[in-house]
Amino acid sequence: MARKAVAKTKTAKAGATKTGPATKAAKPAIVKPVYVLNGPNLNLLGLREPEIYGSTSLSDIEKMVATHAKKQGVAVLCLQSNHEGDLVTWIQEARSMAAGLIINAAAYSHTSIAIHDALAMLDIPAVEVHISNVHKREEFRHYSYVSSVVSGVICGLGVKGYTLALDAIIADLTK
Ligand code: DQA
Repeated sequence: MARKAVAKTKTAKAGATKTGPATKAAKPAIVKPVYVLNGPNLNLLGLREPEIYGSTSLSDIEKMVATHAKKQGVAVLCLQSNHEGDLVTWIQEARSMAAGLIINAAAYSHTSIAIHDALAMLDIPAVEVHISNVHKREEFRHYSYVSSVVSGVICGLGVKGYTLALDAIIADLTK
């Protein structure tokens, strides 16, 4: 009995050691970068209405996101434009070039059917970010053409929204 018990324990232990790490599926590497797109006037973050958007500059946000991504073995490509067409082009490019996409389309969120249509063609995880809580602000900011064509929306959590969005995308890609 005792032998049997010992043998069982041994087998179980050996099995656990042998099969433990081997059976745990390795998380897939995220090879392509996550695109981080920022729209109009966000190039002036830090200077622009700091009581609403805070004092962090866009370049600081981009560094913060890149550092956060690097720690998790992921690359980011950060792009900003004041032109709607640039954002549309980058979203189209993301279809083949990106693993995921973070977008703060800024004022275009509330106006752009072109950005909506480009996002609708995307089949990678995409998260909309707003630094401010747009729902607490003017009514024209309450509707976003982006929200219905992305995986999720983060708004009102300040610049931390960008790293939270990245975490959500990485979790989605590695689940
Ligand atoms: C914003 C909110 C928009 O309504 C506004 O036009 C912006 C910034 C934000 O991050 O809170 O430019 O997207």
